[in-house]
Amino acid sequence: MKKNPQHRIEELREIIREHDYKYYVLAQPSLTDYEFDQLLAELTELENQYPEFITPDSPTQRVGSDLTKEFKSVPHKIPMLSLSNTYSEGELADFDRRIREGLPSSEIVEYICELKIDGLSVSLRYINGKLSVAATRGDGSTGEEVTNNVKTIRSIPLSLNKTSSTVFKDDEFEVRGEIFLELEAFRKLNEERELNGEKTFANPRNSAAGTLKLQDPKIVAGRSLQIFLYYLYSETAQINSQSENLEILNDLGFRINKNFRICNNIGEVLKYCEEWEAKRNTLPYEIDGVVVKVNSLRQQKILGSIAKSPRWAVAYKFKAKQAETRLKKITWQVGRTGTLTPVAELEPVFLAGSTISRATLHNIDEIVRKDIREDDWVLIEKGGDVIPKVVSVNLPKRSKNSSKVKIPSVCPVCGSKLFKPANEVAIYCENSLCPEQVKGRISHFAARGAMDIDGLGDALINLFVDLGYLKDYSDIFHLKEKRDELIKIDRLGEKSIDNLLSAIEASKQRPFNKVLFGLGIRFVGSGAAKKLADHFLNIDKLADASSEEIESIHEIGSSISQSVLRFFSSAKNRQLISRLKKSGLNFTEEEKSAVSDLLRGKSFVLTGTLSSMSRDEAKDIILMHGGAVVSSVSKKTNFVIAGENAGSKLTKAESLKIPVLTEEQFLKLVQLDKNV
Ligand code: IVH
Repeated sequence: MKKNPQHRIEELREIIREHDYKYYVLAQPSLTDYEFDQLLAELTELENQYPEFITPDSPTQRVGSDLTKEFKSVPHKIPMLSLSNTYSEGELADFDRRIREGLPSSEIVEYICELKIDGLSVSLRYINGKLSVAATRGDGSTGEEVTNNVKTIRSIPLSLNKTSSTVFKDDEFEVRGEIFLELEAFRKLNEERELNGEKTFANPRNSAAGTLKLQDPKIVAGRSLQIFLYYLYSETAQINSQSENLEILNDLGFRINKNFRICNNIGEVLKYCEEWEAKRNTLPYEIDGVVVKVNSLRQQKILGSIAKSPRWAVAYKFKAKQAETRLKKITWQVGRTGTLTPVAELEPVFLAGSTISRATLHNIDEIVRKDIREDDWVLIEKGGDVIPKVVSVNLPKRSKNSSKVKIPSVCPVCGSKLFKPANEVAIYCENSLCPEQVKGRISHFAARGAMDIDGLGDALINLFVDLGYLKDYSDIFHLKEKRDELIKIDRLGEKSIDNLLSAIEASKQRPFNKVLFGLGIRFVGSGAAKKLADHFLNIDKLADASSEEIESIHEIGSSISQSVLRFFSSAKNRQLISRLKKSGLNFTEEEKSAVSDLLRGKSFVLTGTLSSMSRDEAKDIILMHGGAVVSSVSKKTNFVIAGENAGSKLTKAESLKIPVLTEEQFLKLVQLDKNV
């Protein structure tokens, strides 16, 4: 007789779960891949036939098909704290001293050392034994929901082993751990990306973070993320120590890192740290230090937390990884503003998870100070996210006939003369048509924080500039006229060009301040662009502004104002803007619609602390009534509103005989005072 399908489905799930556990947690598979695939195929087939029996914890649901556009935010029941760092024996001893001072003198302290996995922390909430929500750390109090992506991690049980021997029986609990990619998976992923012309990840942690934030769980599943759990939080269970905590996690079927050690004093802790700093390269994943925790949970409770980190734990951070290699050549890179940056071209060397063949040398002064020469043996270093840098030269290994670096006199890209401002360390290529500058400016314009044109990456920009389709960023909006030619370019094709063209159209909706940032005016970063846009509201007013008016904006100084003036004094730049205007980009900040004309034509300066509202709120009220807010007092100012502790602006207003309003008078003026 044929088996009841529901029973067979449940049976298959149990076998697959058991196998997942043996394979991913214990690393002791008991089935061949083929056998496993057969079972999974049988389950999938049965679930297709009987969809009413599909449950979210079925092994077939590890890759859900729902694409989430945005990640929901998840408040953490218990904040996800971070750790303070220590870098030396002395700092570890200080930590030990603070622990002893924080506890009654009769207490015996036991530490537990765990490897500090270099990934990203997640919290997993289980309800009735089933994984319900997975969230990233976020800002510590609220994270982002990444349940669908986390479900693709095969060592995470979607539902807990019923036969578990543990005494732990909570209906609802939370576990936390670190998600990461193994070095080998990271290397493969980057290899693939390079082949596809995509940007490679700087390190395994970035690649894990990027993967966890992907919108499509199917792609996530292919990247084999891993996890080590290190924390279980239960409201009811009696757990005495962190080591017991790890034991329970292990019993429940979670993957824990077995390299932890209990230490009886800080000397033993230091020994563990030194041991692992030396052995870190033998692991198939990256660790960036050791986490030292007070083992007793009772003592942890007594010690408590300060601000964002617990007093009972500390991270011992390893030194940045270093390697020695030969510096083959020094080349010069030209940035979008024409700055020349020296780059060390290295004999490729494997360091901290990736092969390094280039390192930054920052500027000429750096080369001179460290006397770095071509053909030298150099020590390079890579710490976390930073671009690898050259630390020092191994002088005894220097060849006798080496010579000091020659500073170029012409641009290595376009051959035009170089310029070195007297008060700067940088040298510049002054030819704004230099192809490298052109590419850099377009790349900045299309980037995320600016026009955010999806698909217009550096590879494509280089190609379009080289083929003559892009001479400056205003040409981007004329690419659609060349569609027929573009789709014929090798490797591009109709679909990708059409996607690009619609991303370009969509970018026209970007607000004025993003467009302004994209223009790439020197020193005008995204923050300054926002301030300028908020103040001037449209590009024409900004283009005709005086340096005084620009500098009257809070936190905008003379280097920005001079640079803005210089940008708009160029006829070419003005033409560029008029072309962009014709293409339909936003050059006006949407004004908050005025509710009245009461203050039309009147300018206000706000000074001091207001009691019933913030300055921004007061500013909004003035704008709502058609008025303007300026930041410094001049003869043209109509009113000054002075709050508590008003300073020099008030004195200036009095000397210029400008009417000064108190907060109450201002509110009366706009009839917001509830007492009126
Ligand atoms: S304990 C308050 N244990 O390191 C407790 N953290 O800067 C903090 N990490 O955000 C977490 N391995 O992402 C702990 N064995 C481990 C860890 C670990 C890596 C990460 C975690 C945390 C960061 C602390």
